[in-house]
Amino acid sequence: TKPYVFITRKLSDDVIVALQDVAEVKMWPKEEIAVPREVLLEEAKKAAAIITMLSDKIDAELIDAAPNLKVIANLAVGFDNIDVSYANSKGIIVCNTPEVLTDTTADLTFALLMATSRRVVEAAQFVKDGKWKSWSPLLLAGHDIHHKTIGIVGMGKIGEAVAKRATGFDMDILYHNRSRNLAAEKSLGAKYVSFDELIETADFIVCLTPLTNETRNLFNENSFKKMKKSAIFINVSRGPVADEDALYQALVSGEIAAAGLDVFDKEPIDATHPLLTLTNVIALPHIGSSSTETREIMMALCCDNVIAVLQNGKPKTPVRI
Ligand code: GLV
Ligand code: GLV
Repeated sequence: TKPYVFITRKLSDDVIVALQDVAEVKMWPKEEIAVPREVLLEEAKKAAAIITMLSDKIDAELIDAAPNLKVIANLAVGFDNIDVSYANSKGIIVCNTPEVLTDTTADLTFALLMATSRRVVEAAQFVKDGKWKSWSPLLLAGHDIHHKTIGIVGMGKIGEAVAKRATGFDMDILYHNRSRNLAAEKSLGAKYVSFDELIETADFIVCLTPLTNETRNLFNENSFKKMKKSAIFINVSRGPVADEDALYQALVSGEIAAAGLDVFDKEPIDATHPLLTLTNVIALPHIGSSSTETREIMMALCCDNVIAVLQNGKPKTPVRI
């Protein structure tokens, strides 16, 4: 009998054709509703592989409920939703989807930066609301992007791709990272600085660092206070890297100018979230890598990783911690 594979969300049928050749595949049938925990725990009992979303918590309890599990393939580059070291200790391989989403996520990061700075969402709403009565010199005036300083926190592949885009806008590029990225320094003119120097001097502070114990609440009350009053904070990594209450306070009190956020502490947020009351906030529903092209490639990569492990081959993109 074929090994059993559970996919925690409805994917399109053509994406899973190759997987169905080697496995019995079951998908949670809903596209827009996450699989309930009880269902996931039950499915895990039989599964040789699980394809997971970043919203599924794959902790020790779930791993212990899955005696046959060989591989967890997460449809994301981030894997903070998975207890990777515990999985590995049980001989389970964890895979993610690096590289394939780099440019798509950098595009969204830049789109959010530009939209926030030039008040694009507010301005579009202004027109739709019928409020445009005349051209006027300072109507919805935002802030320049070109020739400003961008500070990238987390200079991995996506950070580099954002820096590359910034060069086209003649921006000065600062970055902070656990280790120096000499390639980015050489090819993009990015300058390595301390975290404090970055947040104190950058006009745009762009958070792209993975969520780890070291980066949780990295952006806190103190860090927002150190930023320029004109600073714009962009977060496209994980919500808990920033203290959301502190961010709200910083925006309300004018310690920083605006924020563009693709990620939140607890997702999804609903319409009553305090940050949504602020006109200087653009909030997106965690769509960094969401182009149809890239999402299809990510889904195919998850399937390829599962097939490889089930056939005793080498997964293409195992997470190494
Ligand atoms: C999305 O947030 C990802 O980690 O791919
Ligand atoms: C990692 O998160 C990256 O930037 O590719």
